[in-house]
Amino acid sequence: MLSYLHAFHAGNYADLQKHFALYATLRLMHNKATAITCIDTHAGSAVYDLTSEQARKTGEAAAGIERLWRTAGQQPLASWTDFLAAVADLNSGDTLQRYPGSPAWFQQCQRPGDELLAFELHSNETSRLQTWAKGKPVRVINADGFRGLLKALPPRNPRLLVLIDPPYEVKDDYLTAADTLLKAWQRCRHGVFLLWYPLLPAGLHKDMLARIQGGTMRKVLRSEVWLRDPPGRGMLGTGLLVVNPPWTLEEQLAQAINDLDHTGILPCHYQSDWLVPE
Ligand SMILES: C[S@@+](CC[C@H](N)C(=O)[O-])C[C@H]1O[C@@H](n2cnc3c(N)ncnc32)[C@H](O)[C@@H]1O
Repeated sequence: MLSYLHAFHAGNYADLQKHFALYATLRLMHNKATAITCIDTHAGSAVYDLTSEQARKTGEAAAGIERLWRTAGQQPLASWTDFLAAVADLNSGDTLQRYPGSPAWFQQCQRPGDELLAFELHSNETSRLQTWAKGKPVRVINADGFRGLLKALPPRNPRLLVLIDPPYEVKDDYLTAADTLLKAWQRCRHGVFLLWYPLLPAGLHKDMLARIQGGTMRKVLRSEVWLRDPPGRGMLGTGLLVVNPPWTLEEQLAQAINDLDHTGILPCHYQSDWLVPE
């Protein structure tokens, strides 16, 4: 029984890190004209209403996109300008109500010839995703994204970008994500893969990282945002692995997150290193 709903978390600080990295990666990959196959293994419902009952219940966007939106409205932040322009495209005027989920970030950058496959297991989320995808060149697949990814490889297009963003509702997700990533890389070694994970007090991500370090995959960038003042319960921060990151992504990501800290939008320590070097 699936209970995770991203509507409770959309636009939080973890989404900022993940979606900034996704958007920057896509834009850097567009420096070459060859078509890209994009695969979103855990897509969610594509667009989130920040005034919904779910969003208001947790208020997570208040310390994420809402604070960034407000602060940047008063003092422009160069590292976030393009990201915020993309969010503004979904909204009217200065009012922030809608926030894009990962399929919408992928789709915003889609060029003719680029392919987008979005997997989602939850039936209500899939219906919302299908409604959003109508008329767009997006294939929505109501199936397990881990298995779906492996079936879809090698990709039809010369280049590949994958986001693996499971809810980690079950502990198995950590090792399933690691094993899926290792197998997927075997089928497309030049692919760019983003794997998101939460930083929890129990440190459940450590086994996942160890499994990845023990494999044969190379060139894995680790990007972690640790809250300076974490809440009593819940996440201590947010983590992302990027396999085969495009040139300058590492610097762009560091600049963007450090800017959130310097401006007080998100007091945090940023750490990035090579989990597995070249
Ligand atoms: C963290 S949310 C995705 C958020 C989305 N990637 C974004 O960044 O906007 C995880 C999603 O995965 C879905 N899900 C859970 N298990 C899944 C599975 N095995 N395969 C595909 N989707 C799954 C959940 O219903 C949920 O919508």
